[in-house]
Amino acid sequence: MSRPKYSRLVIPRRAREDWISGLISLYEPLGLAEEGRDLVACFRNPDGARQAQRALEARRVRSELTTDIPEEDPLEAFRAASRPFPVGRRFWVDPGDPSDSEPPAGRIALRVPASRAFGTGGHESTRLVLLALEEEPVEGLSVLDIGTGSGILALAAAALRARSVWACDVDAEAVFLARENLGRHPFGSRVGLTAAGVEAFAGRFDLVLANLLPQEFLPIRARVRSLVAPGGRLVLSGIPGEGEAEVLQRVRPRGWRLAGRRAEKAWVSLCLERG
Ligand SMILES: C[S@@+](CC[C@H](N)C(=O)[O-])C[C@H]1O[C@@H](n2cnc3c(N)ncnc32)[C@H](O)[C@@H]1O
Repeated sequence: MSRPKYSRLVIPRRAREDWISGLISLYEPLGLAEEGRDLVACFRNPDGARQAQRALEARRVRSELTTDIPEEDPLEAFRAASRPFPVGRRFWVDPGDPSDSEPPAGRIALRVPASRAFGTGGHESTRLVLLALEEEPVEGLSVLDIGTGSGILALAAAALRARSVWACDVDAEAVFLARENLGRHPFGSRVGLTAAGVEAFAGRFDLVLANLLPQEFLPIRARVRSLVAPGGRLVLSGIPGEGEAEVLQRVRPRGWRLAGRRAEKAWVSLCLERG
């Protein structure tokens, strides 16, 4: 994915001159800043930056313009410093720059370079679902991952030999990044990915995963439950500890059994089984 670019206009030694800031503001800068005695304006649109420079020239104010500067990726340094880490007994999560380093024997590498998509295994809510996946049977099941983010849970389910894995996210950028992550794994091609919410799915799944905050999950809970096959399970994560009782009361209708509960720090994950 190409990084967005911006333009930078530096007006030396005019930081304190409000009329210059006012003039530049007419050309829709992203923002203005003082750097020592210099005034600096950044623009998304290079034409705006050029027009601002011409307007300054017309008033005999000197400036220096640089266009097409790639915007820094704030996670670049994090990725470079990241090291893979174990989750549970089965997984080896690598949030660093893509590599083909071997995981320790017996562990499955999940390569999800840190990005704007949630799900690098660093968060408790993700880890709790990974633990549920390795502790409860997945092999041979049909799995749906709602709110896949980086794709990490769908990848884990595919690695554990689920019969079929579907994943969705309402954030198109997350789906783009998840698709890249699927491509880093030999089992990634077994995941069907779509940029959509739960309404895109029909039928029944043996196992539904939803690492969503309560305010995201509660409005779609009836629809999500309808996608769980009789005897199937719903693993819900992203529940802040203090909201657990209320969430459980609202998501578990008659005929559903609380089949598992996991907690780490302030986060809780619940496994509900449909009777
Ligand atoms: C907390 S992240 C979880 C990411 C990943 N599954 C994990 O466990 O690390 C939640 C994701 O759900 C997506 N999301 C929120 N509401 C959704 C909805 N109604 N349907 C599908 N995806 C949704 C968000 O865009 C976000 O990527």
